[in-house]
Amino acid sequence: MCGIVAYLGEREAQPILLEGLFRLEYRGYDSSGMAIINGKGLQSLKKKGRIQFLEEALQSAPLPGKIGISHTRWATHGGPSDENAHPHRDQSGKLALVHNGVIENYHSLRTRFLAQGHTFISETDTEVLAHLVGEHYQQIPSSDLNRLENALKAALKEVNGTYGVAVIHEDHPNLFVGARRGSPLVLAIGEKEHFLTSDVSAIISHTQKVVYLNDYDVVSVQNGQFSISSLTKPHAGYEITEVDLADAKAEMGAFPHFMLKEIFEQPQSILNAFRGRLDTEEYAAKLGGLNMTPQELLEIHRIKILGCGTALHSAMVGEYLIESLAQIPVETDFASEFRYRNCPMDRRTLVFVVSQSGETADTLAALREARRKGFRALGICNRVGSTIARESDGGVYMHAGPEIGVAATKSFTSQVMIFTLLALNLGRMRFLSASQGKEIIQAIEKIPSQVEQILKLSDSIKLIADKYKNYRSMLFLGRQYQKAVAMEGALKMKEISYIHAEAYPSAELKHGVIALIDEETPTVFLCPKDSVYEKNMSNLQEVKARKGKVIAIATEGDLEIAKFADDVIYVPATLEPLMPLLTVIPLQLLSYHTAVLLGRDVDKPRNLAKSVTVE
Ligand code: F6R
Repeated sequence: MCGIVAYLGEREAQPILLEGLFRLEYRGYDSSGMAIINGKGLQSLKKKGRIQFLEEALQSAPLPGKIGISHTRWATHGGPSDENAHPHRDQSGKLALVHNGVIENYHSLRTRFLAQGHTFISETDTEVLAHLVGEHYQQIPSSDLNRLENALKAALKEVNGTYGVAVIHEDHPNLFVGARRGSPLVLAIGEKEHFLTSDVSAIISHTQKVVYLNDYDVVSVQNGQFSISSLTKPHAGYEITEVDLADAKAEMGAFPHFMLKEIFEQPQSILNAFRGRLDTEEYAAKLGGLNMTPQELLEIHRIKILGCGTALHSAMVGEYLIESLAQIPVETDFASEFRYRNCPMDRRTLVFVVSQSGETADTLAALREARRKGFRALGICNRVGSTIARESDGGVYMHAGPEIGVAATKSFTSQVMIFTLLALNLGRMRFLSASQGKEIIQAIEKIPSQVEQILKLSDSIKLIADKYKNYRSMLFLGRQYQKAVAMEGALKMKEISYIHAEAYPSAELKHGVIALIDEETPTVFLCPKDSVYEKNMSNLQEVKARKGKVIAIATEGDLEIAKFADDVIYVPATLEPLMPLLTVIPLQLLSYHTAVLLGRDVDKPRNLAKSVTVE
């Protein structure tokens, strides 16, 4: 959420910053801006709307210079406008700052500054922070060699909230400083040049050497050297990491949207999630990153899985998987609820947090809360080196490659695959027999080619999307494992097509939701041949009896369902616990095609941003 790119080196900053912003556009896209220091002092340009507008403005008014900061915004305080776009300046106009996060006490600070005669041009909390850093800068003697860094530190000690910031000052044309608390920030080290960014994908074409900053780290880059200190205590040292290109570089290739590309990547991303992790001798799974001995795994009494949005839906599939295969009680919760709840927890509870980005503010806070209370908390993340991956006690990487489309797709199936492996492993340590383990492994191995097969239905799913695209409301129903898939399908439909969609366990229908059914409210029915097939079919009949239109997701060979549903999308047969990996694919395609047919901006739906780093 919001993207920052800063540069200092021997090359022109503008093209580097602009390229970085385009790569970070998925993090926020309501306005963008850039500030650069050159012979004329500090110059900046800010534009409401997509980064393309900033690019166009820079063509007629370029910003030459070898040091600069830039930002792509997802609005928190103050709507999208040129004025509210970052960078913001201090009262002197000589200092510029970009910020990702929220300054919670900005209102009282702003009131204080207004009383002192400061003027503000925006409604943002960030401009207040710029004034605060500027005020401290004025108070520090010019003889202080670390004047800007110390001003930033002093200012940050006065603020409540979260931040990833980068600051430059006209009087220091060879210096940028930055800091983080709660919002990701990475220092990247090139040949005679340095970058600061919220996401390595912004700078990966220039260097792969990075330092992932931790909360309260303050970084200063000056004359080709960098230093990292802590806001609160002596610094514990830092590690320079080499980023794997495959983990960070994302190109759209021949696909019209990242979302479609990522949907089509699933045969590979699912394979990546289980490759090298299947134990075909013991019929179990090898998950070394858990950092737990077999004895410790055996001692688990309960499991709690926390996440947000799609990650929580995959957790819900995980709940059914682990309970059914390993007979361990599992609870899932919204990370945003868990962090403020005081729920009683068995001491032998193992906590999992699930996050594609590894930076979601609520999930990170839930992880910290669980660890503060002394629970072992493991992460299931995609982004290598992300804050959640670094702060958890261990975990499993998805290896899905970058997910850029704001609507999560391949991360869902990777997460479900990891839960399958986990359930298999925990199950084999308990009651699951070798032959059951073998059956699961054989089914897992078939999943990538089965997904491939479903993807071939894309054009026919587009025809179905065309038929239903003008309805204003839809229902998604499913039972057992398919309940979470229905929730995921409804979320996809809402977020990219803006069609209202609700999901329920099919049998809940008659407890209220059935009132919504009429000819104008189609239902997507997840009805594969599983243990609740007959029950589900009865629920389907209840919809048909009320003239509701039905799109069924069914198992190949099920001719019966075609007699009742208006449209059927068939998926290949697999074991019931693995079925979500298949049934979710048509739902992703259905929402994708619906959104495209409605002319929506699929990769950048309104009001949303990838990686929600504010609370
Ligand atoms: C939905 C979507 C969001 C994310 C959620 C968690 O398509 O993308 O609901 O799933 O914001 O994000 P991560 O997994 O990065 O923690």
